[in-house]
Amino acid sequence: MSTKPDVLAVAKLHPFYLQALQTLYTVHDRTHTEDPAAFAALAPRIVGVAGTGEASVPRSLLAQLPQAKVVSVFGVGYDGVDVGAAIEFGIPVTHTPDVLTDDVADLAMGLVLSVGRAIPPADQFVRAGRWPAGPIALARKVSGARMGIVGLGRIGKAIAQRAKAFGMSIAYTARSEKPDSGFTFFPSTLELAAHVDFLVAITPGGDGTRGLINAEVLAALGPKGYLINVARGSVVDQTALIQALKSKSIAGAGLDVFIDEPRVVPELRALDNVVLTPHMASGTMETRRAMAQLALSNLQAHFAQQDLLTPIPECPPPPQ
Ligand code: NAP
Ligand code: 8YV
Repeated sequence: MSTKPDVLAVAKLHPFYLQALQTLYTVHDRTHTEDPAAFAALAPRIVGVAGTGEASVPRSLLAQLPQAKVVSVFGVGYDGVDVGAAIEFGIPVTHTPDVLTDDVADLAMGLVLSVGRAIPPADQFVRAGRWPAGPIALARKVSGARMGIVGLGRIGKAIAQRAKAFGMSIAYTARSEKPDSGFTFFPSTLELAAHVDFLVAITPGGDGTRGLINAEVLAALGPKGYLINVARGSVVDQTALIQALKSKSIAGAGLDVFIDEPRVVPELRALDNVVLTPHMASGTMETRRAMAQLALSNLQAHFAQQDLLTPIPECPPPPQ
């Protein structure tokens, strides 16, 4: 019988991350959903939980793991974890901040350019042989446009840096003003939307931001405005967004995240004023390897009884 500690993987993990985990732990790959009977027998032995930014770690699961001592999230967002329950059960949660910031900011700018300059439809235009019949419709200038960032945290600031290089003016909203940023603060998403051309959402998901970008905000963004969502699907009222896109009360949207991933509603897929990507903002080989290393190091630190490298802010390291 294996003497390696038992770890429950609560989501499909990247093969290189899974392999690295398996060298150190006995990994039970989604046994809780795939084989509940086997899980019932196994649950008392689970000492660690490995998840992703999209994974669900509800109270009901944590309550079945009396020996669990750490939840390591492969991702910076941890809105799928019931943090209140984890704290109550004395289970620290870790995540992977910073190592993915550049990639997510790069993809946000990629979506800004894709929707503004209409790159995906232009690609289709050439492939479909429509060019000889006449030139493509003119697009929207991105350089010098007004960007509004909803959430000026690690990634929001990296997006601002990139937008500055495009000569864009930058405004933002967040829970608190950042006077040192030098960017224009609006106290609400609604006011921000009314003043920008590209509204970029990059907040955490969860109850604190659910439906933050609603019908009213989209109306304020207006028929020349574009929405970019690289945060979480829950941050945007998807029904209101589809309505705004259909009625052209906003110009378009670039979306990396959705309600009910990986399913994307047919109505959204049918629209030609959206660019859709499959939650891939951190999806480069380099960054996913760095995330895997950090997620693994957090688990190892726990089992070596060392301080966790990157605990979530709600689970600070114990005082020295
Ligand atoms: P972060 O440094 O914690 O920044 C989060 C920002 O959101 C902060 O500025 C915070 O404001 C702001 N915020 C929180 N609640 C808000 C609210 N109700 N209204 C307005 N602003 C609010 O986190 P990060 O590293 O930049 O990551 C941000 C999020 O990006 C993650 O949590 C995740 O959901 C998402 N993400 C997505 C992908 C992807 O693949 N698409 C990849 C990575 C991350 P304060 O500064 O005032 O507290
Ligand atoms: C990943 C993410 O797609 O970091 C996050 O919050 O959403 C992304 O980086 C995810 O965690 C990997 O599955």
